[in-house]
Amino acid sequence: MLPTIAWRGRSVVMIDQRKLPGQETYVRCRTYIQVAQAIEKMVVRGAPAIGIAAAYGLVLGAMALSAETGRSLDRDFEKVYKRLERTRPTARNLFWALERMKATYERTRPHGLRAIRTALLEEAKAIEREDAETNRAIGRHGQALLRDGWTVLTHCNAGALATAEYGTALGVIRAAVAEGKTIRVYAGETRPFLQGARLTVWELDRDGIPVVLITDSMAGWFMRRGEVDVVVVGADRIARNGDTANKIGTYSLAVLAKENGVPFYVAAPTSTIDLSLADGGGIPIEERGPDEVREVGGRLITLPYVEVRNPAFDVTPAAYITAIVTERGVHRPPFEKSLGVPHK
Ligand code: MRU
Repeated sequence: MLPTIAWRGRSVVMIDQRKLPGQETYVRCRTYIQVAQAIEKMVVRGAPAIGIAAAYGLVLGAMALSAETGRSLDRDFEKVYKRLERTRPTARNLFWALERMKATYERTRPHGLRAIRTALLEEAKAIEREDAETNRAIGRHGQALLRDGWTVLTHCNAGALATAEYGTALGVIRAAVAEGKTIRVYAGETRPFLQGARLTVWELDRDGIPVVLITDSMAGWFMRRGEVDVVVVGADRIARNGDTANKIGTYSLAVLAKENGVPFYVAAPTSTIDLSLADGGGIPIEERGPDEVREVGGRLITLPYVEVRNPAFDVTPAAYITAIVTERGVHRPPFEKSLGVPHK
């Protein structure tokens, strides 16, 4: 199984996703600041994976705390919490994981720092373990939507690398293949960070699942020609009405899918759902630095001073989504009703 992220003897080890597929190297984080920087620099990325990383980051932060009790302990914990919270704004899973960790801190606080540290590590491991189980459940529900012989278009990387293991959108594909279905994947390259070209292609190839790389601008043409049977993507944050934030370019795919009569599925754990938001209008969209767009693979492809826009995510209105697959099952519109009350 692909080791996306692992707790190893008072440190967090992550596969360096910036270097794939060229190099398989690992980054070891010994402090919460190193974890925060790894999330910001995309050593680790993908909504559930950054939630798991942040949870372990909080464990590392708690290990370095010195105040045993009282207000100074709370203040120091809050400092660690705030640093990890500031890393990336869009994925709900990051905040969901941190909130779970904070609840654990508050519950064990009366028992002192040793008990807090033990409980936090157990909670982070539980978040990781549950994510693996959740993805298998998403796969079981979602695979029933895919027919033998289909070509699936996916975007970005919603695979093992973006989660504890197995993946969400790629989990659905893996489960369909495990059921004996012949599935071919069209992976959109996903400019500017190229998660599709670099990570999805690498993951599927390792599993022996046939994958064809296309540039993002080719998707509509292949849909029009009837070469795509279904689109399956992951999600970073889902509002109560089903509006879904995911990697930039997802919205375009959804509009093209509707225009061409291609079903469009979102696969995500319920920890991605943000019940505090009535619709997608309130989802914070991360804007990343201009060089990601000015350069490809570290090489300048335009004028070095050209103005750039680089939103990392977009919001697909619920009206374009055929169904949302979570660990609870396949949710169809109206999503406000079918998503129900998710998770603790
Ligand atoms: O910027 P990234 O690579 O963190 O964006 C990742 C995505 O948009 C994924 O599709 C999403 O997080 C789901 S991962 C299971």
